[in-house]
Amino acid sequence: MSAISVAQDVLTPVLTKRWLTSDAWTIDTYELLDGYRGLRKAFTATPDELIQLVKDSGLRGRGGAGFPTGLKWSFIPQGDGKPHYLVVNADEGEPGTCKDVPLMMADPHSLIEGIIITCYAIRSNFAAIYIRGEVVHAIRRVQNAVREAYAKGYLGKNILGKGFDLDVVVHAGAGAYICGEETALLDSLEGYRGQPRLKPPFPATNGLYSSPTVVNNVETIASVPFIVLGGADWWKSMGTEKSPGPKIYSISGRVNRPGQYECGLGTTLRQLIELAGGMKEGHQLKFWTPGGSSTPMLTAEHLDVPLDFEGAAAAGSMLGTTAVMLQRPGRPGLRGLPVH
Ligand SMILES: Cc1cc2nc3c(=O)[nH]c(=O)nc-3n(C[C@H](O)[C@H](O)[C@H](O)COP(=O)(O)O)c2cc1C
Repeated sequence: MSAISVAQDVLTPVLTKRWLTSDAWTIDTYELLDGYRGLRKAFTATPDELIQLVKDSGLRGRGGAGFPTGLKWSFIPQGDGKPHYLVVNADEGEPGTCKDVPLMMADPHSLIEGIIITCYAIRSNFAAIYIRGEVVHAIRRVQNAVREAYAKGYLGKNILGKGFDLDVVVHAGAGAYICGEETALLDSLEGYRGQPRLKPPFPATNGLYSSPTVVNNVETIASVPFIVLGGADWWKSMGTEKSPGPKIYSISGRVNRPGQYECGLGTTLRQLIELAGGMKEGHQLKFWTPGGSSTPMLTAEHLDVPLDFEGAAAAGSMLGTTAVMLQRPGRPGLRGLPVH
């Protein structure tokens, strides 16, 4: 078996499985490819059963910190008489990170389906998708998907006749890295300058307009319909014990095929480089970041570190957004200066 085919075995297309189907972003094609089946199944469960399912799956937030998603949902107080909100973090500002925009372009209805299930679980009737303002193409694609979902009765009043109402708004941010931080994002969404709030109180009790709010990343929410359809055990059959499930790794830098590779959490850089067609000719790995430029650098010694939340931390870095950026040894720069 060649080195490349060994690496191909680690590919685990779940969230990316529809990406190469033409027009998968339209609701008709999405429905032909299992779309909105997870929602129909979710409506046969109670909200608490769905929260428990997501807890059991071990899903951890894909926005960087890896907080357990089901636990976050369970913090939303029930019977408090206040509106509850879901805010989807689609700011994707961390340098090197480019998974949420392709997901919204290729498969926006998986995000919308995840939003409906999540809102049903946390008893929310309003969700906002906060998208980085520069990615106008993604904003238009998601707006179009929201319109399609309303037209087919997946959004609005009495969804699928189940007595559940949900409105979804797409909000374009003005483009500030700090607005990816969840509380700055909430300030920005409310119309203020985006600056982080002091915590506590946390968004679960005092979020959007001081009401209980769940803030989750795009990839996190898009995972939910798959978990509902496949079950917690299936989800845990991928990835590692403490970091279960598939993950979209974004590889950039001096490799032959930079791009998105979805593999089980715990995949190593050595495997990812093989998937990406190897290092470019004449380049050798010197240092790299496992999860965007805010994560501490690793070196060629760390080729076999399992890239899950625990493995990256044990190596002295962080998994972050799994934006794997590879750098090269110094060579003459444009002005003849060494570039490191
Ligand atoms: C400076 C800063 C920038 C951040 N940018 C993003 C971002 O662009 N997208 C994102 O999903 N999370 C970002 N986060 C993490 C969010 O604050 C929050 O933890 C996340 O949206 C929660 O979603 P999750 O539990 O699904 O990961 C950022 C955090 C910090 C401190």
